Amino acid sequence: MTVTARQFFSAASAPIDPAEECKFFASLKMRNGTFKLTRPSRFADLEAVVGSVIGGRSKSLRQVLDVGASIGSTTVELAEFLSALGASPQVIGTDLFVEAHLVELAPGFRILSDADGWPLQYDVAGLPVRAWIRRLDYFTMAIAPRHLAVALLRPRLRRMIAEARTMPVRMASRALAGRNIELVENDILVPTPSFVGRFDFIRAANILNTGYFPADQLNTAISNIRSYCRGPGAFVLILRSRGSMHDGTLFELDAEGGFHVRARVGAGSEIEPLVLNNEQGAAGRP
Ligand SMILES: C[S@@+](CC[C@H](N)C(=O)[O-])C[C@H]1O[C@@H](n2cnc3c(N)ncnc32)[C@H](O)[C@@H]1O
Repeated sequence: MTVTARQFFSAASAPIDPAEECKFFASLKMRNGTFKLTRPSRFADLEAVVGSVIGGRSKSLRQVLDVGASIGSTTVELAEFLSALGASPQVIGTDLFVEAHLVELAPGFRILSDADGWPLQYDVAGLPVRAWIRRLDYFTMAIAPRHLAVALLRPRLRRMIAEARTMPVRMASRALAGRNIELVENDILVPTPSFVGRFDFIRAANILNTGYFPADQLNTAISNIRSYCRGPGAFVLILRSRGSMHDGTLFELDAEGGFHVRARVGAGSEIEPLVLNNEQGAAGRP
């Protein structure tokens, strides 16, 4: 059983086993239906393939973006991998949900909520209670009280957040402390002007999947990523894990603003055709 958010965040400065940290965050379901799933040492086998292509240009990798970084633990590993190749980039990890709040609603009743008042975990007398709905709830009639709880609590949580009557926390790995890595809230579906033309290497791991997003949103995300590339020669790595195996494609941006394939792992990225055929997006070409 996982711990409560209060227990987890009250020991925020203590060292933690990375697997335990991931287990806590993986128990939280975000309001868009995604879990904060991640795992340490996830991509070790993939690094050999990617390293053989980008290794010779490692010194030119100055700005790196990790899209859908969850709590940033695999962003730390990405930074270490690039550093082992001789690069010393500034790394930005982004995720739709980073900021959260611990709220005490009544003695013995606390909630971990996202920044918009969406409950992520209940804490009832020190016991963690899942806030999200699972399929079984439809059969056990637990669905109505769970929906009702969200509907009743959300306005109150939003008010308390606006009035600063909460304890703000960040859904971020402790391994980020003291590193040249920033973890920021950002939606890959929304163009971000400050990212345009900035990055030499962009990774999107376990986010740009057909299971998460319909094709039109994937195209929007790809257009945004393309606009975030510094220019010809920028690398984009898109991959999806299946257990300990990975299917991924390393793309390079060419002088015409299109992508071509530099390397594949496993079966390659399932969205490779979308990337290769992506039209210039609203955010424009670098
Ligand atoms: C399965 S996790 C992948 C974490 C990490 N990249 C890895 O592979 O271990 C997917 C992450 O994408 C984030 N996410 C979902 N929609 C997003 C969006 N529109 N923009 C940015 N991040 C998003 C989720 O919050 C979640 O943390």
